[in-house]
Amino acid sequence: MTKSNLNRRDFLKGAASVAAVSTLPLSTVEFAFADPAQNFTFAYISDAHIQHIKGSQFVYNWDRGLIRAVAETNLLEPRPDFVMFGGDLAQLGSKAELDHGAEILAKLNLKPRMVMGEHDYYLDLGEYWSELFGPQWYSFDHKGVHFLVLNSIITFDEWTYDRWPTAEQRMLEMAALDNPNGSPFMVGEKQRAWLAKDLSGVAHGTPVVVFSHSPIQKIYKGWNFWTDDAEEVQALLRPFDDVTVIYGHVHQIQYNQIGNISFHAVMATAWPWPYPRAYAQAESHMPKITVPMNRADPFFERDATGWQFINLKTGRVDMAYNLYNNTNRTVAYNRKTGRPEDTKYQAEDDRIPPQTQY
Ligand SMILES: [Fe+2]
Ligand SMILES: [Fe+2]
Repeated sequence: MTKSNLNRRDFLKGAASVAAVSTLPLSTVEFAFADPAQNFTFAYISDAHIQHIKGSQFVYNWDRGLIRAVAETNLLEPRPDFVMFGGDLAQLGSKAELDHGAEILAKLNLKPRMVMGEHDYYLDLGEYWSELFGPQWYSFDHKGVHFLVLNSIITFDEWTYDRWPTAEQRMLEMAALDNPNGSPFMVGEKQRAWLAKDLSGVAHGTPVVVFSHSPIQKIYKGWNFWTDDAEEVQALLRPFDDVTVIYGHVHQIQYNQIGNISFHAVMATAWPWPYPRAYAQAESHMPKITVPMNRADPFFERDATGWQFINLKTGRVDMAYNLYNNTNRTVAYNRKTGRPEDTKYQAEDDRIPPQTQY
């Protein structure tokens, strides 16, 4: 397999477009093969959180994030083979929000493949979403790569069915990031059985890419940056040489390596979340996010959203981030350390210190 020579600028038609989209939460993903004729790209948009106010009013800012991502996806050159939407299309799962989001997505030149987010799910347990978009988990093959989509935001039946007086209450509880009542997400037994069966027909040398909404790894339980049965899912993916999990939900840049699996989060079109101070391990070190987070640039509505190119070479992922008012970064798989790393700023001494907030 070869390194791709694709210039990042080639992804967009015209230099003007590059400037216009430098804040977009849109990803393009390229698979590069030995025979360049086999190369392909796909686009990835996530976490739009379309929010209904009343009547025909929706939160303008979240609308704009998705509308821009859709418009720029349509400008991508080479044209992506398909488009993924990574979940949380709606904020509170209502028909009005899902319809409005679907209407914006319908402007894509390509019909998007959808991932379920908790904000889409917990009002009617995915019923209307499924009517609009189809199955909640599925797989497909594309040009030698096996793709899997999981609904990773399911939880215990007790929590889902018995705990709340109304469906609206359940949705509101799940919509809060720092809600102590929130139950951990999981893929669940039924879906894991499906996954095992699906993977049994896939050769171990085939590159596998999993799309989930929550990370299939344990980052921070207090915010549900967490999937409770992550290890069980990882175990099913272990026999494969090259596995990548791409997820939304966390609204921030994250990357990690667990065994054979590379993990990458993509940014949101709606807003960024702050980083938990204690990743992965701590259960209770976090202050609740009941105070608005500091924003680097409060006058810029797309602050700390952004977009990235994802280059999947030989099954590994390079992420090239285009960041507003910030140095562009690349996170690439480092064969020496066996994990994805920032190509320039990974070492402690090379890091850019955090900005002072006032
Ligand atoms: Fe989200
Ligand atoms: Fe989410």
